[in-house]
Parts: sequence; structure tokens; C-alpha cells
Amino acid sequence: MPEIFINGQAVQAERGQSVLQAALANGFYIPYFCWHPELSVAGNCRICCVQVEGRSWVEIACNMPVADGLRVLTDSDAVKEYRKSIMQLMTLNHPVDCGICDKAGECTLQDYHYRYNGAPSMSHDVKVRSTKFHPLSERIVLDNERCILCSRCVRFTREISKSNALGIVQRGDTSLVRAAEDRPLDADPYSDNIIDLCPVGALLSKPFLYKARVWYLKPTPSVCPGCARGCTVQIWHRKPEWKLNALDPRLNARIERVTPLDNPDVNGPWICNKGRDLAQILERPRATQAMRKGEPVDLDLAFELARRLIESAERPIALASTWGSNEELTAFSKALPNRFTVLTKQDWAPQPGERLDDDLLIRADKNPNTAAAKALFPQQDEGIDALPEDTDLVLVWGEGFDFARIPARAKIVFLNAYLQPENGHADVFIPISIQTERRGHYTNFEGTVSAFDPCFPKPASVVDAEALFAAIASTESVKA
Ligand code: SF4
Ligand code: SF4
Ligand code: FES
Repeated sequence: MPEIFINGQAVQAERGQSVLQAALANGFYIPYFCWHPELSVAGNCRICCVQVEGRSWVEIACNMPVADGLRVLTDSDAVKEYRKSIMQLMTLNHPVDCGICDKAGECTLQDYHYRYNGAPSMSHDVKVRSTKFHPLSERIVLDNERCILCSRCVRFTREISKSNALGIVQRGDTSLVRAAEDRPLDADPYSDNIIDLCPVGALLSKPFLYKARVWYLKPTPSVCPGCARGCTVQIWHRKPEWKLNALDPRLNARIERVTPLDNPDVNGPWICNKGRDLAQILERPRATQAMRKGEPVDLDLAFELARRLIESAERPIALASTWGSNEELTAFSKALPNRFTVLTKQDWAPQPGERLDDDLLIRADKNPNTAAAKALFPQQDEGIDALPEDTDLVLVWGEGFDFARIPARAKIVFLNAYLQPENGHADVFIPISIQTERRGHYTNFEGTVSAFDPCFPKPASVVDAEALFAAIASTESVKA
């Protein structure tokens, strides 16, 4: 292990590390724009400069390999002066947009300006103007005036998503990030990661554009249910003190955006665009009314009817949801009498045009908890396509099952969270809560267990499936 000295303090670095990496790993902060731990070194922003002791000039730390006995200074007068001049260069043509920029509050340029510069612009010339709302794709808008040409976005599409969809055209202060004409960024299912990667507010999410200042929002750790990878994410929603108080209650408790939460064991710092669009899946119109054959009934009565059907059935089948949490699946297995045949149901199938799978994150199984469901209910689920004709009860938990496959004489108990035509066809329908309304865990295809927390309270007229199954196993009220 090479020993280097940072500001006179001995540090054990790892072979192959840069001075920037060794410094960050040992509690010394060196600013950086273009460097990113998952991308190649570009060395173009120059803000990471350090001074090797004994030399009169400064050099970039992100491209300086550690070597035994190397002595560097991260805060000498020469370093401070150079950093300040780099910040002045960066902001020379940068618009003073912070008041309307979605990145404000998370912007590295803004933070570094206050930390390393703080002085008004030295220039008396008019700023160079550029394109303000360039549609880079259907999902992303580019503000070239804010771009500091760090090339992180370009390197991401070349090295991580491999779409090669971006490049930099022109030279000098007319340089522009642009999408390739023959490789549209829209075809890259990981494109929105460049919004997070951009250290300034040059790349903006169209769905999130001008929706909220980030300090109005609160992130809740969660798991993307979009496929069997189960990426670790943060679901952002309004802090209670900043809620909209809109007449439409759905606007007061909704997902504002979804971002990745770095998890080296599952997804690293990335997620796919489907994970960003979780609101489209989770915020579909909800079912909130218990029913008997389509007629509204009290939740307690629906529960009692379901229990009677379960008790009297002789050849019942239960379909376990692959969107149920580990806790719910365990409660489900405990609630069912031995005579139940339990089959695992795939709640979601790949949608038209959706990428099936790839080498980065996306998995062909579009359900988050197939691994846990199959571990608890190892029966082959091929039988799900042709249920035996003598089945007298089918308990369907979750969506995605075609009721036409249920034998004509079988009764149906249906537990579902969303408004769907099948709800009214069930003998008993019970509305259940969704992932953003409860706590739980999913087990991904590699066996990694990840936790999700609630973001919003559940509607009063729906029940948590775990509580429902526990009540079926005992004699308590379903509302308990
Ligand atoms: S758009 Fe953002 S990430 Fe891309 S080069 Fe410009 S500043 Fe860097
Ligand atoms: S790869 Fe799968 S789990 Fe990860 S964000 Fe995309 S859909 Fe969600
Ligand atoms: S972070 Fe080193 S040159 Fe940009």
C-alpha cells in the first residue's frame, strides 16, 4: 500500500487510486465536477487541483496516481488562487438562473461558488448566450447556457448505458452537448441518470420541470418494484409543511420524483427510466370500496364473507402476488389452511416496447418479489394457465390474472389495490394498500433483501394485506 502525505498527514492509499480518490477515502475534501467514481477520467474541469510539495504549479488530483512518498497540499495559497480562478472561468458565461433552476439546492456549481469564490464576476462583457430549452429527448431538456462541459453525460452514454447517444459539437465557447442524429436518447432506457450526473442545472427532467423546489421535498428510502432487480431508490414527496393544500387530494400526497439511492449490492448509483416513472404505476386510480358481486359492502362484512368462503371450500386455489412484501407473503402462507393449493402469480408482464432485459440492471421478470414468493410456495406455477375444473374457490391476490381462466363454478375472492373491471366480478372484493403506504421488504433475484418505508397514509377504507391475512388466520376484525 503506497503511503502518501496530504497536507503533511500520512495516508495509506490503495494501489491504482488517484490522489483525489485517496483524499476522499481518508476524509480530505477536494472539489470535483467532471470526475465520477463510475466513469473514466476526463480531467477537463480543473477544479480538483492540488500542489505537489516543492513545485510552484498546481495539477489535477483526479488524474494523479498515488506513489509512495508523494506529498500533496490541498489548500495551499496557490491551490486556493487557482480554484478561485477556475470558478470565475466557470461562471463567466453562466446565467444567474438559480432562482428558477430546478438544480438549485443540489447544484455543485452553486455550492462551490460560495465555498471557493464568492466574488462578483470580473467580466464587463456581455455573457455568451446559447440554447436555453433544447429538447434532448422526450424526457430531458438541455440548457446549454448552464452546461459547464464536464462531459459526464456523454461518458455515461458511452461507458455505462452504451447507447452512444450524446456528444459535444463545436469548439470553445460555442461547444454544445447534442444527441446523435442516428441514436436518439429516447431509445436509452437509462437516459435519466444523466440528470443526476449533471453537476449543474443543464439537464432537466421534463416531468419534474418547475414542479417543486427540492427543499420542499423529502426522500423516503424505497425499492423499485418495476423488475426483479429491486433497485434501491428514494421516493421524493412534499414535506407536510409544504403540502399544496389543493382541492384535489391526490395532488397533496403524490410522488414528485424518484432518484436512485447508491447501493453497490444491487444497482450502484443507477436506475432505469421505469424506476423514475413509478408514479405511473403506483398512482393509478385506486380501489377503495369493498364489494360483494359488485355491490358496495362494509369492509368487515367483506372480510366475513371471504372467511366463510375459505372455510367452506373443498378444493381451493390461492394465487400469491409477486408484488407482496416478504412480510405479507409470510402472513399469507400462515393464513391459508393446508387444503389450499398455492400458485405464484406474475402480477406484471413486460409492456409493449419495454426493454426485456440487459447486462446492466433490467430483468425480464417485471415483478419485485418473485424470489420470496417462489421460496415460500415452491409449487410449479405452470398450472396457473389451466386451473382444475373442480376448483371451488380461487383467492386472487393482486392484479395480472385473467378471470376468464377461473373455472365457471369457482367462487372468487379478490384482493387488489387498483380500480379494475375484475373487482366487480369477484364474489368478494377487498381493497388493499400499496407499497408507498406501508413498510416491508422485497427479496431480489440474487437473494438481496431490501426495505421500503411508507411515504403516505393509506386510505381509511383499504386494508393492509398483512393485517388481513393475520385476521384470516385468527378471528379478529379485519379493521384491527
Ligand atoms: S450537460 Fe451537464 S453533465 Fe453534460 S456536459 Fe454539460 S454540465 Fe456536464
Ligand atoms: S432496473 Fe428494474 S428495479 Fe431497477 S429501476 Fe429499472 S425497473 Fe426498477
Ligand atoms: S475533477 Fe479533476 S479535472 Fe475535473
